[in-house]
Amino acid sequence: MGLIPQTFIDELIARADIVEVIGSRVQLKKAGREFKACCPFHNEKTASFWVSPEKQFYHCFGCGAHGTVLRFLMEHDRLPFPEAVEELAGRVGLEIPREATAAAGARRVDEPLYELMARVAQFYTEALSRDARARQYVANRGLEAGALEQFSIGYAPSSWHEVLRRFGGTEAARRSLADLGLIIERDRASTREGERYYDRFRDRIMFPIRDSKGRVIAFGGRIIDQGEPKYLNSPETVLFHKGRELYALYEARRSRASLQRLLVVEGYMDAVRLHQAGIAYAIATLGTATTPEHLKRIFRLATEVVFAFDGDRAGRGAAWRALQHALPEVREGREIRFLFLPEGQDPDSLVGAEGRAAFEQRLDSALPLSDYLLRELSQQSDLTSPGGLARFSEQMRPFMAKLPDGVYRDLLLARVARTIKVSPERLEELWRSSSGPAHTPAAEPARWVAPRTRVSAGRGSLVRQAVTRLLQYPGTAVQVTPEDRAGLDGSTEPGVDLLRELLDHLQSQPARNSAQILERWAEHPSCADFEKLLQREPLVADASIAGAELRGALAKLRDLVGIRRLQALEAKDSAVGLQPEERQEYLSLTMQRGSGKARRG
Ligand code: UTP
Ligand code: MN
Repeated sequence: MGLIPQTFIDELIARADIVEVIGSRVQLKKAGREFKACCPFHNEKTASFWVSPEKQFYHCFGCGAHGTVLRFLMEHDRLPFPEAVEELAGRVGLEIPREATAAAGARRVDEPLYELMARVAQFYTEALSRDARARQYVANRGLEAGALEQFSIGYAPSSWHEVLRRFGGTEAARRSLADLGLIIERDRASTREGERYYDRFRDRIMFPIRDSKGRVIAFGGRIIDQGEPKYLNSPETVLFHKGRELYALYEARRSRASLQRLLVVEGYMDAVRLHQAGIAYAIATLGTATTPEHLKRIFRLATEVVFAFDGDRAGRGAAWRALQHALPEVREGREIRFLFLPEGQDPDSLVGAEGRAAFEQRLDSALPLSDYLLRELSQQSDLTSPGGLARFSEQMRPFMAKLPDGVYRDLLLARVARTIKVSPERLEELWRSSSGPAHTPAAEPARWVAPRTRVSAGRGSLVRQAVTRLLQYPGTAVQVTPEDRAGLDGSTEPGVDLLRELLDHLQSQPARNSAQILERWAEHPSCADFEKLLQREPLVADASIAGAELRGALAKLRDLVGIRRLQALEAKDSAVGLQPEERQEYLSLTMQRGSGKARRG
């Protein structure tokens, strides 16, 4: 193994044909220059899923799914990135070269760690079958043999050195066990050699946490009956990053259930019991709040997400945090809802008591994100008084700022506006002019606020036109002459930096199609904006028209620099008068503009 070089991915995207790959999985029909089908990512009767051979890009107008051929393989075949690359490479007959980098080296070192984890997990499952008290406990908790096996649930014996003795025969092995968080090193000074380590997990029911390939990377261990802490988890290790992993996701993906919907719960026991009851789309966060990273992973797989929270105070707090992280992920075609369970109940106890059908009925009537948001905020203000309405509007502002542009945001805006009895336009105006930056409730607005304003500030603008044509027809970049682009450096139009960056990039590294740019810029903050432009902006008849349009937009941008400067000089002239050299500049600019106009006739 090793890292896959970006240059290889680039070549792969240039060679692959998205129509062929998707066509072998979905029935495509030719429609003009594109192909269409019923969307494989959501249920529909009329085709709203489009595949563009020119852009090498797919897009569903129903659920918003979109991306390159690699993204399709990852989402449709549920493959992790490296495997999607392998699949595609096999298809076009390319061999994957591997980079021998530091990271690749680290990967090799990890292999024995995975193996060690697997052996320890195996030991725990055997220990469960040998220990009557542990078996009794899981039986009392309603766990059946099938679920125990599916989730490889085990038992860590009540001993300070069982794992240490079995798996820590050498100092190197003990180091590995310690790195994996399975044994703990004592304070050196106070201990004799041979007693330096002890087992982390003792007398606990063990839930192995698996990564997307099914490898055990960590454990959660529940105390039998009473004790503190109730759940002990593996620490962060080289294999395990808590904020990224989701318990039972591997099992959910392996189940044959359609993962159109995912149910996010809080506990290990909840997830296992839900699977056992036939709700195989249940996954659990690992005792942490839902992170933005979790949400990204979740929405790569499902268009409908229900968060279920315990009806207690902690559960409500967790729900509110999940809402905040979910806002940037809101899209048309995505459904995000919240289920609040009755006080004192959790999914485990409820599904045990009432069964799958009744539980799924609760899911069906879970509260949509927008209703939840409006409900919480309107409860905090008195909506019958003008002051209360103002307060409500002000509190709403940071939440709205986190929503991406689109129909969903427009609808919510309209609802808020209706509540406070102003027009949506007026409300946005109020928000824009109200003092100070939007107070953002916790967590990273910068990630998406910045790119959103960058391109869409220039909506319909020259910058947007130029970026669009470059994205759609990357080949046009090489037609752009230094003179064409002369205006870019002096321009202050919104988004011009991005345009310059994209143009420079494509001139030095030409791309054959849109998909190549998206894959190269996958980590770039503007990638999402590029995807939006590709979905929304219509193509033109052919690349030569696109090239002419691109150069036309650049020429106008160049003119604009002069116009802006003229305007500034005129304003200064009427306010305080111009210096001699400024007057000189003014005159020469006017003359240039005059001759420019004459040339264009
Ligand atoms: P809960 O306290 O709600 O427990 O913790 P539970 O899932 O209902 O477990 P049972 O039914 O009593 O066995 C929810 C999740 O929070 C994390 C675990 O991931 C747990 O599944 N947690 C909880 C911890 O990490 N440590 C704790 O001490 C408690
Ligand atoms: Mn519980």
